[in-house]
Amino acid sequence: MLGAILLCLLPTVALGQGDVKWITIDGDSAAPSFSLASCNISYQFHVDPLTLDLIHDHWGAYAAETVPQFDGVTGGWGGPYTYSLREFPDSGRGDFRIPTIHIEHSTGDTVSAFAYTSYEVSAGKPALPGLPATFGADGDVSTLTIHMYDNYSSIAADLYYSIFPRYNSVARSFRITNNGSEEVKILRASSWSIDMPNEELDMIDLHGDWASEARVNRRKVVYGEQGFRSTAGYSSHFHNPFLALVSPTTTEFLGSATGYSLIYTGSFAATVERWSTGWVRVLLGLNPLHLSWPVAPGETFTSPEVVSVFSNDKGLNGMSQSLHALYKNHLSRSNHTFETRPPLLNSWEGLGFDFNQTSMVHLAQQAAELGCSLFVNDDGWFGTTYPRDNDTLGLGDWTPQPAKFPDGLGPYVEEVTDITVANTTSKMTFGLWVEPEMVDPKSNLYNEHPDWAMHARSHNRTLVRNQLVLNLGLPDVQDYVISTIEKVLDSADISYIKWDNNRGMHELPSPAANHAYMLGMYRVIDNLTQAHPEILWEGCASGGGRFDPGLLHYWPQSWTSDDTDGLERLFIQFGTSYAYPPSSMGCHVSVVPNGQTGRTTPLAFRSAVASMCGSFGLELDPSDLEQADLDAIPGMIALQQQINPIVINGNFYRLATPDESNWPAAMFAYPDASSAVLFAFQVRSSLKPLPPPLKLKGLDPDAKYTVGNGTVGTTWSGSTLMNKGLSLSWPTVDYQSIILQLQKQ
Ligand SMILES: *[C@@H]1O[C@H](CO)[C@@H](O)[C@H](O)[C@H]1NC(C)=O
Ligand SMILES: *[C@@H]1O[C@H](CO)[C@@H](O)[C@H](O)[C@H]1NC(C)=O
Ligand SMILES: *[C@@H]1O[C@H](CO)[C@@H](O)[C@H](O)[C@H]1NC(C)=O
Ligand SMILES: *[C@@H]1O[C@H](CO)[C@@H](O)[C@H](O)[C@H]1NC(C)=O
Ligand SMILES: *[C@@H]1O[C@H](CO)[C@@H](O)[C@H](O)[C@H]1NC(C)=O
Ligand SMILES: *[C@@H]1O[C@H](CO)[C@@H](O)[C@H](O)[C@H]1NC(C)=O
Ligand SMILES: *[C@@H]1O[C@H](CO)[C@@H](O)[C@H](O)[C@H]1NC(C)=O
Ligand SMILES: *[C@@H]1O[C@H](CO)[C@@H](O)[C@H](O)[C@H]1NC(C)=O
Ligand SMILES: *[C@@H]1O[C@H](CO)[C@@H](O)[C@H](O)[C@H]1NC(C)=O
Ligand SMILES: *[C@@H]1O[C@H](CO)[C@@H](O)[C@H](O)[C@H]1NC(C)=O
Repeated sequence: MLGAILLCLLPTVALGQGDVKWITIDGDSAAPSFSLASCNISYQFHVDPLTLDLIHDHWGAYAAETVPQFDGVTGGWGGPYTYSLREFPDSGRGDFRIPTIHIEHSTGDTVSAFAYTSYEVSAGKPALPGLPATFGADGDVSTLTIHMYDNYSSIAADLYYSIFPRYNSVARSFRITNNGSEEVKILRASSWSIDMPNEELDMIDLHGDWASEARVNRRKVVYGEQGFRSTAGYSSHFHNPFLALVSPTTTEFLGSATGYSLIYTGSFAATVERWSTGWVRVLLGLNPLHLSWPVAPGETFTSPEVVSVFSNDKGLNGMSQSLHALYKNHLSRSNHTFETRPPLLNSWEGLGFDFNQTSMVHLAQQAAELGCSLFVNDDGWFGTTYPRDNDTLGLGDWTPQPAKFPDGLGPYVEEVTDITVANTTSKMTFGLWVEPEMVDPKSNLYNEHPDWAMHARSHNRTLVRNQLVLNLGLPDVQDYVISTIEKVLDSADISYIKWDNNRGMHELPSPAANHAYMLGMYRVIDNLTQAHPEILWEGCASGGGRFDPGLLHYWPQSWTSDDTDGLERLFIQFGTSYAYPPSSMGCHVSVVPNGQTGRTTPLAFRSAVASMCGSFGLELDPSDLEQADLDAIPGMIALQQQINPIVINGNFYRLATPDESNWPAAMFAYPDASSAVLFAFQVRSSLKPLPPPLKLKGLDPDAKYTVGNGTVGTTWSGSTLMNKGLSLSWPTVDYQSIILQLQKQ
C-alpha cells in the first residue's frame, strides 16, 4: 500500500449517472473535452468539432485546464491528421505515422474513419472479457468510455480510460465491434497510443535473454521509429512489455518519468516514433506480426490493457513505486499477494532428474532440518510409457512415474508432509513442478493427438529442448490441461505449483493463433486459480521468460531467472524492479561455483540478494555443502523470514544500482515509516575510492531509529540517516553484503 496518502478530491462530476470522481467533461456536447485527474496527475483530450477525431491534450502532472493546441502548424505533404496530436489514430486518411488501429476490410482496403459519437462514465472499472486486467472498487477507480463509429465500415470502437488516483495511474484498452455484414481483419492494435509534444525524452526498457533478464536499456528518443517487440509468442526474456519515457535529466529520485506496461503474456510491440514536428507517438500493444485477427459480423475484439503511471518529481523510484503498489493492490488477485512466503527447497539444481521417492523424502528431511517449510519436487516426476528421466521425453503425460513413485503421489506427499520443520511444531508442505503447455513428441499425448501441437501445414515442427508447444487456442487442449492438472491436484496434498514454460512458439497455424492461444491459456489459468486459491502458484518460463503483468494477475509470484549467481542476480533483480514489485520475485540460493556463470560468491552474499525477494528458497542438495555453510543456513532463513513481511508490504527504493555503483543498495520501508530494512552490497573489494554514504529514504525525519544487524545496533534520527547518510565499512573482500534493520523508537 502507498500508505497515508491524502486523496485530493477534485470536483466530482454529477452527470445524472451517479457521482463519478476524478473525471470531468466540459464544452460543447457534440465535441466535449475530457479530463481524468487527481491532484497529482491529469489526462486530457477533446473532440475536434470539425472531424470528430479525438485530440490528445496532456498526460502528466496535474493541470487545471486544457491549453489549446498550438494552431500555427503549417501543413506539408501530410494530411491534416498528420499535424494533429491524436488519441486513437486510425489509418489511411493522411496520417503518415504508425496507426494504433489498422483494419483490413472485406473490400481489401485498410482505410478507417472513426468519429466520436458519445461517452459514458462510471465508478469502478469493468472487467475485460477473457483477459487479465487491473480491477478496483468504486472508491479506487473511475472509468470513462468513449464511443466512436466508422460510418463507412460499420465498425464501432469503444475506448476505455480508467484512473487510479492513488497510484498516479491511467489504464487504457479498447473494444472493436463489427456492425457490418462482412468479416474484417484487425492488422494492428495498440492498446495505448498517445502523441506527445516536442520534448527531449529518453526511453528506458528491459532487454535480455535466458539467464540474463531485465538489463536496463536507456537511449535518447530520436527522429524515426524506435522500439522493441516480442515475436516469441510469449512476452519473453528478450524484451519485457514495459517502457518508460523520462526527461534526459531524470534520475532514480528526481525528475519526471512515465511508465507503461502491457498486461499481456503474448507477442507484443512497443514503438516510439518521433515525427517531423518533433512530436512523439507512443504505441504499446499487440505485435502486428502475430495478429491479423478476424472479427465476424456481430463479433467484438477486446485489446489487452496498458497501464501508465506518472511520476512528476520523484524520478524512476516514484514510477516504480506506483507500478508496484498498483500491481499489488489492483492487479494481483491472489490472496497470497500480501502474505509472508514459506522458505522453500527446490530439488532441481540439487537432484535434477535423478531421484526416487526415497531420495526425495530424504531431501525434504534435510530441507526441514535447515528451516525450510516448503519442499518442491521439480521436473522428472511423471511419465509412464515415456518415463521422464531426462528432457527428451514425457511432457504431456502428467501421471507419476511408477519407478520413482510406485504408490503414486498421494503416499509420497504424505511422507513429506509428515516431516516436522526443525524447532517448530509445523509440518513440511509440498509443492510440485508442471509444464502443462508443452508436449514432447515422445509422449502418449503426442501419439494420441499430434494435431494438438502447434503446426503449419506440413512444415517440420521446430524442436527446442526436444519439445513442442500445445495449441492452447483449441478448446480440447484447454479442457485437457484443466482436467489433467485437476487430477494431479486431487491426487495429493499440494500447497504450491511451479508452472513452467520452456520454449518460445513455433510454426503458428495463423498469425492470429498467438492471441487465440493467450485467450485459451488465460481461460485455463483463470479456471485453475479460481478453483484452487489456497495454492501458492509461481510462474516460470526458463527463468523470467514470462515475467509479465498478465500472469501476475493470476499468480502472485514468478521465478526471476535461471541464473542464480549472486552478482548476476543483483542486475536482474534491480532491472526487474523497474516494473515489478520485489514481492513478486522468486529468488533462490544455489551452490558455488555457480552452474551458469562459474562464479564463486559467499553464501551470505547469495542469501542477502535472494532475501530482497518475496519468495526465498534454496535450490541445492545440502549434502553438497560444507559444514560451515550448513550451520549458517538456519540463521539466514530466520533473518529472511523476519524481514519478509516488510519486503512484501513495504515501499521499495533503489538507492544505488549495480549498473552505476560498486556498492549497490536498496531498502524497503513501511509507508508509515515505522520500520525499514536496508540491503547493501560491495561487488569488488576496492581500496579507493571509498564508498559513498548511503542516504536512506522513506523514514520519518523527526523520529529516532535503532539501526542494527541483530548483533550490534546504534540509534540515529531519520534526518541524519536520510540527509547525512550511513557510511558502511567494508572488508577488502569481494561480494560482501550487509542487512540492517531500522526500527522507529
Ligand atoms: C454517421 O452517420 C450518422 C447517421 O447517418 C450521422 O448522424 C453522422 O453524422 C455520421 N457521422 C459522420 C462522422 O459522418
Ligand atoms: C500527490 O501529491 C501530494 C502532494 O504533493 C503528495 O503528498 C502525495 O503523496 C501524492 N500522491 C501520490 C499518489 O503520488
Ligand atoms: C449497427 O447497425 C445497425 C443497422 O445497420 C444500426 O441500427 C445500429 O445503430 C448500429 N450500431 C451502432 C453501435 O452504431
Ligand atoms: C533410490 O535412489 C537411491 C539413490 O539413487 C538408491 O540408492 C535407492 O536404491 C533407490 N531406491 C529405490 C527404491 O529405487
Ligand atoms: C534449531 O535449534 C538448534 C539449537 O538451538 C540450532 O542449532 C539449529 O540451528 C536450529 N535449527 C533451525 C532450522 O532453526
Ligand atoms: C532419456 O531417458 C529415457 C528413459 O529413461 C532413456 O531411454 C533415454 O536413453 C534417455 N536419453 C538420454 C539422452 O539420456
Ligand atoms: C524435416 O524433418 C525431417 C524428418 O525429421 C528431416 O529429414 C528433414 O531434414 C527436416 N527438414 C528440414 C528442412 O529441417
Ligand atoms: C473449470 O473448467 C471446468 C471444465 O471445463 C468447469 O467444469 C469448471 O466449472 C470450471 N471452473 C471454473 C472455476 O471456472
Ligand atoms: C485464499 O482464499 C481461499 C478462498 O477464498 C481460502 O479458501 C483460502 O483459505 C485463502 N488462503 C489464505 C492463505 O488466506
Ligand atoms: C553485525 O555486525 C557486527 C559488527 O560488524 C558483526 O560482528 C556481526 O557478525 C554482525 N552480525 C550479523 C548477524 O551479521
